[in-house]
Amino acid sequence: MNMIVAPSMLASDFSNLSDEIIRMDIAGADWIHLDVMDGHFVPNLTFGPPVIAAMRQYTDKPFDVHLMIDDPLRFLPEFRSAGADIITFHVEAAKDPAKTVDAIRAGGARPSIAICPGTPAGAVFPFLDKLFMVLVMTVEPGRGGQKFMPETMEKVRALKQKRPGLLVEVDGGINAGTARTAAMAGADVCVAGTAVFGAKDARSAIQQIRDAGNSVSN
Ligand code: DX5
Ligand code: ZN
Repeated sequence: MNMIVAPSMLASDFSNLSDEIIRMDIAGADWIHLDVMDGHFVPNLTFGPPVIAAMRQYTDKPFDVHLMIDDPLRFLPEFRSAGADIITFHVEAAKDPAKTVDAIRAGGARPSIAICPGTPAGAVFPFLDKLFMVLVMTVEPGRGGQKFMPETMEKVRALKQKRPGLLVEVDGGINAGTARTAAMAGADVCVAGTAVFGAKDARSAIQQIRDAGNSVSN
């Protein structure tokens, strides 16, 4: 099965976001991954709803918004209005994950929960029936360019076993090689920043990650 590939704009040239997003659209990105950091949940700051809204006019591809922010419930309407199609929040950051999932769905977006490397898969089990996707972080959230943690694959397997129809996304240190490892564990969606934006040919980098899904049979 083809892997869904979501280039992370975190690795793009922020001084040229419109061209970068058009470049990813043309290069065959399935989704566009947008990393929102608040300087509290993670020790870094990126961008928020106004910047996402500005990018929205340059592509029709689904916006996969990864909220690395405390108390995500507060800002859901702003992210939805900015054009988020899939909204992922961290189970570690939400006061009431079930309520947050319901609010995402009520706002018309697809709900997803992320887990950090140190968080067990069981932390999201109570919400699986309500979710479109679970994001298994394959690095500590907060910055791009880190090394993929293979030990997180156990959680991908556990989630797919628990609910086979659920999409599982992996994020951090993904390239053609680690995408294959993730595909073998059952991952459906790969986020890739450095591997796509750092490549000479973004189209072929995306295609290689997509093909990783075809190289294994689960
Ligand atoms: C990390 C972000 C990732 C990041 C991945 O906190 O969630 O989406 O952009 O970057 P790479 O692919 O460079 O590891
Ligand atoms: Zn991300």
